Amino acid sequence: MCGIVGYAGARPALGIVLDGLRRLEYRGYDSAGVAIVCGDELLTEKKAGKLANLEKILAERDAADCDALGIGDGTTGIGHTRWATHGGPTDRNAHPHVARDGRVAVIHNGIIENFARLRAELEADGVQFTSDTDTECAAHLISIALGQLRAAGHADSPQLLAEAMRQVCQRLEGAFTLLAVDAGVPGAVVGARRNSPLVVGRGQGENYLASDVSAFIEHTRDAVELGQDQIVLITGDSIEITDFDGNPAAGKDFHIDWDASAAEKGGYDWFMLKEIEEQPQAIADTLLGRLTETGEIALDEVRLSDQDLRDVDKIFIVACGTAYHSGMVAKYAIEHWTRIPCEVELASEFRYRDPVLDRSTLVVVISQSGETMDTLMALRHAKEQKARVLAICNTNGSTIPRESDAVLYTHGGPEIAVASTKAFLTQLVACYLIGLHLAQVRGIKFADEVAAVVDQLQEVPDKLRELLGRIEPVRELARDLKTAPTVLFIGRHVGYPVALEGALKLKELAYMHAEGFAAGELKHGPIALIDQGTPVVCVVPSPAGRGMLHDKVVSNIQEVRARGARTIVIAEEGDEAVLPYADHVIYVPRTPTLLAPLLTTVPLQVLAAEIAAARGHDVDQPRNLAKSVTVE
Ligand code: G6P
Repeated sequence: MCGIVGYAGARPALGIVLDGLRRLEYRGYDSAGVAIVCGDELLTEKKAGKLANLEKILAERDAADCDALGIGDGTTGIGHTRWATHGGPTDRNAHPHVARDGRVAVIHNGIIENFARLRAELEADGVQFTSDTDTECAAHLISIALGQLRAAGHADSPQLLAEAMRQVCQRLEGAFTLLAVDAGVPGAVVGARRNSPLVVGRGQGENYLASDVSAFIEHTRDAVELGQDQIVLITGDSIEITDFDGNPAAGKDFHIDWDASAAEKGGYDWFMLKEIEEQPQAIADTLLGRLTETGEIALDEVRLSDQDLRDVDKIFIVACGTAYHSGMVAKYAIEHWTRIPCEVELASEFRYRDPVLDRSTLVVVISQSGETMDTLMALRHAKEQKARVLAICNTNGSTIPRESDAVLYTHGGPEIAVASTKAFLTQLVACYLIGLHLAQVRGIKFADEVAAVVDQLQEVPDKLRELLGRIEPVRELARDLKTAPTVLFIGRHVGYPVALEGALKLKELAYMHAEGFAAGELKHGPIALIDQGTPVVCVVPSPAGRGMLHDKVVSNIQEVRARGARTIVIAEEGDEAVLPYADHVIYVPRTPTLLAPLLTTVPLQVLAAEIAAARGHDVDQPRNLAKSVTVE
């Protein structure tokens, strides 16, 4: 939530910062802005709306050639793309915020919780604010701290800027990533991080700061992970890290194992469509090398003993949004395979209801970004209560895996579209693997049984390719449904979370009323919603699995059909029992019941994306949303 880029080097900063912002726009697109240090001048530009609006005024500025030294000439710069929290999404609230001396510019991701007190103090000292944001306090405070340091006889240097940032951070409460530049210290960008993402890109004669590595991946694949409460100072040829007290600190170097092309649209109209097509590969990559030579499931980082896992007597799965739906599927698999009671919780609710947690509780947190604040706070609460925490995450070096006791990374590659697709399917794969691992460690499943399920998982990518190869009728159906006032989704067992996920996708992308229900619950109230022609998407389990389950869902389809619903049935190929009750049928390849969401979800993703496109919406950047939500 909010994308941040900083650059210090020898090349013109503006283009590099704008390219970085383009890759970070998924984090927020309410406004965008840049601040570039040119000679000893600070030049800024910012604009409400998407990055394109900013680029337009930068092009006009370029044409007018109004600066003696143009904004395109500076080699130090910062840029921001915003998801509004404090203050509406207007030009004046767009970042960077500049101190009254006109020489310090600051960008920020997060919330400064004590901003009202700081603002009142600054106003009492005569500072006039030009925005409604909490960020502006930081700009004024850094400028004042620099002034005091200079008055005390300190010469201008990059370290002086870092010292000013340190002094200010000690006064800030809340979660924040801050970047600052000062016209008096050309060639340096200082960053600070508390509970909000910031990574360093290590280049040759140039260095980068960004909310995530995609911002600088086209320039370098060498990155440095920062810890909490750290300050980082970059110049073209140095990276200095300290804590908030100025003590030297070390970052953790890592290499990014995907390249810039993975974060490009590659000929698709929307990132989401590309990411849907990438799902077979993402699943295969997540499965790669998971079975060790001795037949055990390999996690990526394990700071837990097998005995700790054997002692587990209760599991909570905690996540938000789409990741929460993957957790709902995981519950069915984990309870079935391990016989350990398993609850699924929304991260934003978890800690507030005082859950019963102790050393023998395992909390599985699921997060694509690894930065979702609700999930992070739930994780911390669990750790305070001595529970063990295992993370499923797609982002190396992010906060959630770093703070967990064990990690299984999904190898989905960068997911740019706000609506999650390949992250969801790879989260499901990770959940299955964790269920198998727990069952094996506890002696409930033997190596050959685990290998049999892994084999079934390994067949999924090909099945998914086949399904995607004949998805066209779903697109046609989407165009037909684009004016429906409401769309309902029903399913049972693992089909229930799939129904919820289908409805969520439609809400977030097409801005249509959509709801998912447990098929058996319909008759207890929601069936009253069915009117003549109401589209109902029915997720039907395999008839080969549990016969009763299949038959019950077929009965539920008959119930809605009898009340006028237009039924769109997702069923396993060869399932002819659904045909008499289906207005449209979408067949998916055969797969074991528990693994079916890896296939049945996909037509619903396509349906939502196509309906959104048919309604003229931005599929990748739906209104009011952001991909990485780093506020509670
Ligand atoms: C946001 C996104 C969702 C995502 C959720 C959890 O709400 O819009 O697509 O599922 O956050 O994100 P995470 O990164 O924790 O998986």
